Amino acid sequence: MEVGNLNDYIHGFSSAPESRRAAACRDMRYRLFCIPASVLRPLCVFVWTAPARVVSGSLMRIIITSDLHYNVARSREPTEKIAKEICAGGGDCLLFVGDTASTDLTVMDRVFGLFEPFRGVKMAVAGNHELWTVGGADSLARYENDVSAACRRNGVHYLDESPLVLEDTAFVGNVGWYDFSFRPSGMKIPLRFYQHKVGPGAAAYFDKHRHLLSHEADLPPGALDVTSRWMDGERVRLPESDVEFTRRMADKLRRHLSEVHDRVSRVIAAVHHLPFAELVPPTIVPNWAFAGGFLGSELLGETLLDFPKVTHAFCGHSHRARTCRKGSLVCKSIGSTYREKQYEVLDL
Ligand SMILES: [Fe+2]
Ligand SMILES: [Fe+2]
Repeated sequence: MEVGNLNDYIHGFSSAPESRRAAACRDMRYRLFCIPASVLRPLCVFVWTAPARVVSGSLMRIIITSDLHYNVARSREPTEKIAKEICAGGGDCLLFVGDTASTDLTVMDRVFGLFEPFRGVKMAVAGNHELWTVGGADSLARYENDVSAACRRNGVHYLDESPLVLEDTAFVGNVGWYDFSFRPSGMKIPLRFYQHKVGPGAAAYFDKHRHLLSHEADLPPGALDVTSRWMDGERVRLPESDVEFTRRMADKLRRHLSEVHDRVSRVIAAVHHLPFAELVPPTIVPNWAFAGGFLGSELLGETLLDFPKVTHAFCGHSHRARTCRKGSLVCKSIGSTYREKQYEVLDL
């Protein structure tokens, strides 16, 4: 693997079998949508494999997509393709779960423009790529001001700023982050390499990271085979540590959940980073395994589980579709890669 290319590499997981399965599920749900609502509700619970429960209120169709990466050349055509498909299918809500664009936020205007014909309510959370800066600019200011402004001028509700309530359903979410709680303990790579977002093999390559190897005695055998780095380390400039920023996002998630929880019958959550370790793609490849440390945080999941009305949570970031269940909560990573975009349809 080329040093410095891990973000691209992990996003290149093969997803063809998952794509076919997802497409089959979508087709099935579309067929079910033609059935009267009184028949549809119990069937929908079965098809989406949500926990059995009584759903009250009118039928709501929610479309969820993620990781469109429209700034990347090979992502453009597949993004345009699913935009047409989603707009033609319609729905009540459309939710973007981050990594829509990158350093150039005008790309968000172009992406949201593709979905302009969609007549329902549009919502978005930021991804780590929207926090990427050039020239050492402040990623937190960008997150709070610039991404917010891009959403506002395109008529998209920015969930990172405030939750949204539609009838008896609330939508809550934000970028999330990582605190290295998902790092593979079996690898025994010392924490300092995660904090600097560089594998031991890559640290040997870059002058500015070579000091991390000064205590080589604590390196396990094979550590130098981890030759990748996580590119947030070069592109994201936060005024606090990753652990502190993760705490900031989890606290905000809790605050927003508390604001809406008693006002609605259900909550749909969207967090760009993974909230549960079960969603981390399993791998035996050292560079990929090292990347697991940057995929999310157990703190995000613990926060969601403190609110029993959160029935569904969606995330992106891993570029690999996986699902896990935690009691009455179903959590799914969307699984868009750079070359193949995915979306979910949730009928409530
Ligand atoms: Fe992504
Ligand atoms: Fe991401």
